[in-house]
This record gives sequence, structure tokens and C-alpha cells, in this order.
Amino acid sequence: MDYKKYITVVEDWPKEGIRFKDITTLMDNGTAYKSAINDIVEYAKKLEIDIVVGPEARGFIIGCPVSYALEIGFAPVRKEGKLPREVIKVDYGLEYGKDVLTIHKDAIRPGQRVLITDDLLATGGTIEATIKLVEELGGVVAGCAFLIELTYLNGRDKLNGYDVLTLMQY
Ligand code: PRP
Repeated sequence: MDYKKYITVVEDWPKEGIRFKDITTLMDNGTAYKSAINDIVEYAKKLEIDIVVGPEARGFIIGCPVSYALEIGFAPVRKEGKLPREVIKVDYGLEYGKDVLTIHKDAIRPGQRVLITDDLLATGGTIEATIKLVEELGGVVAGCAFLIELTYLNGRDKLNGYDVLTLMQY
């Protein structure tokens, strides 16, 4: 499916010079949303994953339906102060800003094969931080799946040696 026709490009948001890729217009179309999730589910099946991990907030929009379809668990990665039990944390750089990501210490068992999902691969800072968290818990990152890749930001350079699926490239 040509998913790009469901993405709305918003000029100068959240800052001047940023051409924001709004996925809500894809989510609004049940057929397109389901098809995109199914593409990631098919990818995940080949990787024999045990658990899906996604960073807030838009990583949940992709990861949760994938885990539901595969009848496996989903572990949320959240910004600092949001998860109620013992966490491990990592600093990361955003396309515009800086923050801390956390995951529950018992979210992944050593050796589990993990699929990481998000809506967007931009600079790769978020995925790099999420990989660090997963690997620190002993998880094996079997693959990383995104709706959109901004190729001009070279996020893939941070994913050398990892299996990556992106459904759209800009
Ligand atoms: C956005 C997006 C990815 C990340 C990609 O999330 O959903 O998670 O940025 O950028 P990167 O590759 O440069 O790290 P954001 O941090 O804006 O959080 P949100 O999903 O909660 O809005």
C-alpha cells in the first residue's frame, strides 16, 4: 500500500523549519492503519520475537497492536517519572531537545527476542536509547520497525548490525 498518501506533512511544526509527519491521518483510516500494522506483524513473525518494546507515546500506537496480533507481551519505554516500579534509565538526544527514557527492570527476561517499534526513525536517538535499555536487561534486539524513516537525518547509522524495517522513507 502507498502509505504516504495517508501522512499529513505539517510545515513549521513544532518549530520553524521542521516538516512534521503527522501519522494521525493514517491512523484515521482503518484500512491503512491495519495494513501498516499487518506489514510489521509479518516482519515480526519471521524474526520469532518474544516481546514488543515501544517508546512513548507514538511507539505504543505501533507496538501495542503488533503485540496483540502476535499474542505476545508489550513493554513500554517511558520518560522519567512515569513508570511506578524499579527502572533502569538512559539519557538520549532528540531531534529537538533532550530527555531520559526508562523501562521497568523486570520488563524483559535475559535472552528474550525483542522487536522495537516506533512511528518514526529521525536522528535515531530514541531507538538507540531504547536498544540500550533492552540490551542492558539482557534482551536480544531481533528487529526494529517504524512507519517512517527520515533518511536525510541518517538515523540508520545508529542501527548498524540491527535488522530494520521502515514502511515509508522521506
Ligand atoms: C518522536 C517519535 C520518535 C522519535 C524519533 O517522539 O515518535 O519516538 O521522536 O526521533 P529520533 O529518531 O530523532 O529520536 P517524541 O520524542 O516526540 O515523543 P512522543 O512520541 O511522545 O511525541
